[in-house]
Amino acid sequence: MKTAELYRFTRKKMKLLRSSYGFKCFKLVIWFVISFIFFVRFISRHQPSTNSLRTALISHSQSNVASRALSESNAGSIRRQRQGLLNDLKIYVYDLPAKYNADWLSDERCSNHLFAAEVAVHKALMNSNVRTFDPSEADFFFVPVYVSCNFSSGNGFPAIGHARSLLSSAVELISSELPFWNRSNGSDHVFVASHDHGACFHAMEDRAVANGIPEFMKNSIILQTFGVKHRHPCQDVEHVVIPPYVSPEKVLSMLSQSPVNGRRDIFVFFRGKMEVHPKNVSGRFYSRRVRTEILHKFGKNRRFYLKRHRFAGYQSEIVRSVFCLCPLGWAPWSPRLVEAVALGCVPVIIADGIRLPLESAVPWPEISLTVQEKDVGKLAGILDYVAATNLSLIQKRLWDPKVRRALLFHDELEDGDATWHILVALCERLNRSQRGSRLWSQ
Ligand SMILES: *[C@@H]1O[C@H](CO)[C@@H](O)[C@H](O)[C@H]1NC(C)=O
Ligand SMILES: *[C@@H]1O[C@H](CO)[C@@H](O)[C@H](O)[C@H]1NC(C)=O
Ligand SMILES: *[C@@H]1O[C@H](CO)[C@@H](O)[C@H](O)[C@H]1NC(C)=O
Ligand SMILES: *[C@@H]1O[C@H](CO)[C@@H](O)[C@H](O)[C@H]1NC(C)=O
Ligand SMILES: *[C@@H]1O[C@H](CO)[C@@H](O)[C@H](O)[C@H]1NC(C)=O
Ligand SMILES: *[C@@H]1O[C@H](CO)[C@@H](O)[C@H](O)[C@H]1NC(C)=O
Repeated sequence: MKTAELYRFTRKKMKLLRSSYGFKCFKLVIWFVISFIFFVRFISRHQPSTNSLRTALISHSQSNVASRALSESNAGSIRRQRQGLLNDLKIYVYDLPAKYNADWLSDERCSNHLFAAEVAVHKALMNSNVRTFDPSEADFFFVPVYVSCNFSSGNGFPAIGHARSLLSSAVELISSELPFWNRSNGSDHVFVASHDHGACFHAMEDRAVANGIPEFMKNSIILQTFGVKHRHPCQDVEHVVIPPYVSPEKVLSMLSQSPVNGRRDIFVFFRGKMEVHPKNVSGRFYSRRVRTEILHKFGKNRRFYLKRHRFAGYQSEIVRSVFCLCPLGWAPWSPRLVEAVALGCVPVIIADGIRLPLESAVPWPEISLTVQEKDVGKLAGILDYVAATNLSLIQKRLWDPKVRRALLFHDELEDGDATWHILVALCERLNRSQRGSRLWSQ
């Protein structure tokens, strides 16, 4: 760990030397190196003295992860050069008490359901090269709180009523124990909010909007699955639109049985909630009635494979399908988007105004179709036309493994996977806010 830090530090200084500042910096560099060595010694001598968050963080970094960091330091520097885009990005991951994260993992669903990006990003950062154990050199601070894992005993859906209080208590803890939150008022702190309406923490849009984003998160950076093209109170914050979580293991195991370019005998696929008479919930209808219309219009069409009941093996249906319908639900986004792409079925997006995840990394217009909500009745004609004209071109681009990789989270960060693209997005942000000044202000 120490060697790795020192190595990275020296590398940074070498770059400085080469820069236009030239030789004048040399003395300063020597001074930096010497103070750094003293700093590292100081830390190692003052290890687990108290139980505060600060020492917990440092001792954790030196025990559990130290040997790993050491053994990866060489491989890491090579990888960093290769991953030019992430060059030198440093993220500090708060080591919060287990009640904020690890405790929730006792329920296996916590790390696997559609909102599990909050767990996946955390896991990937823990072992990655961008993680730093020295908060004073961090570009960003990651706050790992899992708010989507309180599954209701009734319907099994996550209850997120406690999300605000759990997050606010975490922020209280980090801002009282360490100086970094107060220093920036949270603006270099990163949270994941992976449920329906981002950091508004409510499944129903009107309630989400009424509640708004908690005051204490408004300066921070939110990684959220929710995204729309118009202005919306639930994305009125620095944010990155990220994909919903789909287990990469499940996808790979499915593809090992049925490759993307295999037989696709289902023309149009949809499985999910489709109310015959959608309930009027304070003036709002589930899926703005789009799913109901699909059912009415195409329920008897033999080329439309529409199913309303849950079936655990639905991925085996997706991999057999040419087109996969991705209509909005309560929120515009859905895990179907990722599952369709990952399993090579052309997503047909029916959710007006949706902003798709990682738009700068995934060529959505080339690999999907978008149908306006008002045109949903014309689906059969639209899809027939595409099948007769440019379907094979769309499939060719869709089946590029790079596309699939960009939407999946892996426990260990991989080049080009979802967490990697999120880090690139953070890096771009950092570049925009002139990172150079940071070095000299310390
Ligand atoms: C950020 O800037 C650095 C240095 O100019 C560059 O090497 C890197 O590619 C940039 N990264 C992104 C994501 O723009
Ligand atoms: C989990 O959700 C239930 C039902 O909404 C709530 O009563 C309970 O307090 C929540 N648990 C925690 C730890 O917040
Ligand atoms: C940060 O600010 C809060 C509120 O002003 C204060 O209670 C807390 O002690 C400060 N934290 C530190 C580490 O100084
Ligand atoms: C910090 O941000 C919050 C939320 O936007 C704001 O209410 C508060 O006034 C800010 N505090 C400082 C010291 O800028
Ligand atoms: C839905 O319910 C609201 C009251 O909650 C009512 O004003 C509205 O007319 C209803 N809409 C329809 C189409 O039934
Ligand atoms: C394929 O054709 C459809 C319908 O004409 C069009 O909307 C879409 O942009 C085309 N896609 C590609 C990748 O050419």
